[in-house]
Amino acid sequence: MKISNDIEYIGVDDHEIDLFEGQYIVENGMSYNSYLIKDEKIAVLDTVDAHFTEKWLDNVKHALHSRHPDYLIIQHMEPDHSASISHFMERYKDTKIVATAKAFVMMKQFFGTDFGDKKIVVGEGDTLSLGKHTLTFVMAPMVHWPEVMVTYDSCDKVLFSADGFGKFGALDIEDDWACEARRYYIGIVGKYGAQVQTLLKKASQLDIEIICPLHGPVLKEDLSYYLNLYQIWSSYSVETEGVMIAYTSIYGNTKKAVELLADKLREKGCTKVVVSDLARYDMAEAVEDAFRYSKLVLATTTYNNGIFPFMREFIHHLTERNFQNRIVGFIENGTWAPVAAKTMKQMLDTCKNLTFTDTTVQIKSALSEESRAQLEAFANELSSDDTI
Ligand code: FEO
Repeated sequence: MKISNDIEYIGVDDHEIDLFEGQYIVENGMSYNSYLIKDEKIAVLDTVDAHFTEKWLDNVKHALHSRHPDYLIIQHMEPDHSASISHFMERYKDTKIVATAKAFVMMKQFFGTDFGDKKIVVGEGDTLSLGKHTLTFVMAPMVHWPEVMVTYDSCDKVLFSADGFGKFGALDIEDDWACEARRYYIGIVGKYGAQVQTLLKKASQLDIEIICPLHGPVLKEDLSYYLNLYQIWSSYSVETEGVMIAYTSIYGNTKKAVELLADKLREKGCTKVVVSDLARYDMAEAVEDAFRYSKLVLATTTYNNGIFPFMREFIHHLTERNFQNRIVGFIENGTWAPVAAKTMKQMLDTCKNLTFTDTTVQIKSALSEESRAQLEAFANELSSDDTI
């Protein structure tokens, strides 16, 4: 696949994967992107996952047309991109590796060598001339590991963005970009909003017409759409006004309360109400929704003098990703000593700029007249102009 006259896509699709990074469900597979720039000199950008080394090396060979690669540029050392470095270097022994100093430390850890006299260490603003293409390296630490850099080609106005602007899903399956890019971003890079903001500021100084990420499609049109979403996600801003209700239920009584709340909210004019059973729904989708919507309702049972395990895990996912700037309310259930609401609130203590609703709904075993009245007040509060 041609990206421009001189730039070719040489990555691979993975439909064999069960869990990406050992935890994310990827029903549509995954792509590990790699690119080749052909000029007076030839540069290959990044390698691929270990399961696809041979296929990728075939792609490299095919794109080279009997020429020899001068540079292998490594933007990120996570194995989904770096695992094939040593195989590449066995085949193309004279190629120089271009990467950050931290990346070479990681190469030594992964491969037992940092490729000695083949290495070219680059830092912020360093350039590499291939002929008419001059590449500028821009440091992007913690997007998503500390050694990450991105690469700008001023000739074709291309930003090679490493994990930035990536998404789940193989390239031979068409799906909605934002849905799977959001789940990817929040899950994998969500904690590092400040670092992504720094990179976006640097990118705003560049004239970019094409974004080539390490996962997902090459982005060519309406780049402001993607940049705007990254701006929202990395600043922890609200993307969509609406209520996300995340719950767990053991015998169905908490579920009944949640369904009643959702119905009431819709009746009162909330057009976006999403409900997630944390024990059965993809946890990464639920986490994504919590970051997407303006209001979050957490509903769970008291369990072992704390809260039900799936809710504990969910809140942990939120706090470790710096969840903030949202309105949060609670529904708790407990048959003899309910502590769920207090426990959930304590777990969110470290989050910045959360506004808690005045109403907390307490269910004692099953819905009662009293708890139904609390749900009505809760729905009024969540749907009022003050909180929308
Ligand atoms: Fe796609 Fe952070 O590796």
